[in-house]
Amino acid sequence: MKKIIVANWKMNGGVEFLRNYFSAGFTASNQIDTVFCPQFPLLNSFADYANKYGFFLGAQDCHHEFKGAFTGDVSAELLKEISVNYVILGHSERREYHFEKNEVIAKKFSQAQKFNLTPILCIGESLIDREKGNYKDFLLTQLSNSLPENFTSNFIIAYEPIWSIGTGVIATNDQIIEVFSLIKEFLNNKIGSDVDKIRILYGGSVNDKNVGDLSKIKDLSGYLVGSASLKRDQFSIISNSLL
Ligand code: PGA
Repeated sequence: MKKIIVANWKMNGGVEFLRNYFSAGFTASNQIDTVFCPQFPLLNSFADYANKYGFFLGAQDCHHEFKGAFTGDVSAELLKEISVNYVILGHSERREYHFEKNEVIAKKFSQAQKFNLTPILCIGESLIDREKGNYKDFLLTQLSNSLPENFTSNFIIAYEPIWSIGTGVIATNDQIIEVFSLIKEFLNNKIGSDVDKIRILYGGSVNDKNVGDLSKIKDLSGYLVGSASLKRDQFSIISNSLL
């Protein structure tokens, strides 16, 4: 199974920024999958670079319905049409600022798979749940309810503790290992041996300084990277740590 690195640019990076980012060239190793998730209007411009440098396009969200009167939303079908391969779903920022509930995320998951987009399903507990000690129950409920009733094994899980996103505070390897085995056990009960096809990522304050330690985690399939992915040199170091 190939490892994967996903750059989540969030609401950062415009046309000029994109040009500068790739101005000195870019090398995406064919030993890992590299995915860039820029703001929607940049996806088309990104497609040229994706072909040239051998990486994949990802979207930061998609709508849960096929099409219709949903002002401001973007359909999975259109994303597929413009060569997007991956879609981040259930990011904690969407859950918080757009009030997305597990049930709607499960619908988005179905819609994405219907159009052959690979969902990158994000789960993660708050600091309160971590400190209260009920984070395992929280994560299992979140994972279980964010998955639709029927799904294929073409998806990725990203464990992103909310307290680690954009804070500079990174989960310890033991904390990550514990949650990864929880996720694996859950998936094993659900899809049996197909669990071996599912890549599980860590996200939250990953940078060029802390990847050395993180890469010691045996079951880690890669990273979902926010702010450090905006700096090309840092992002390359993080990618190379997966080789
Ligand atoms: P961060 O964001 O790397 O800036 O913490 C990660 C994410 O939100 O996906």
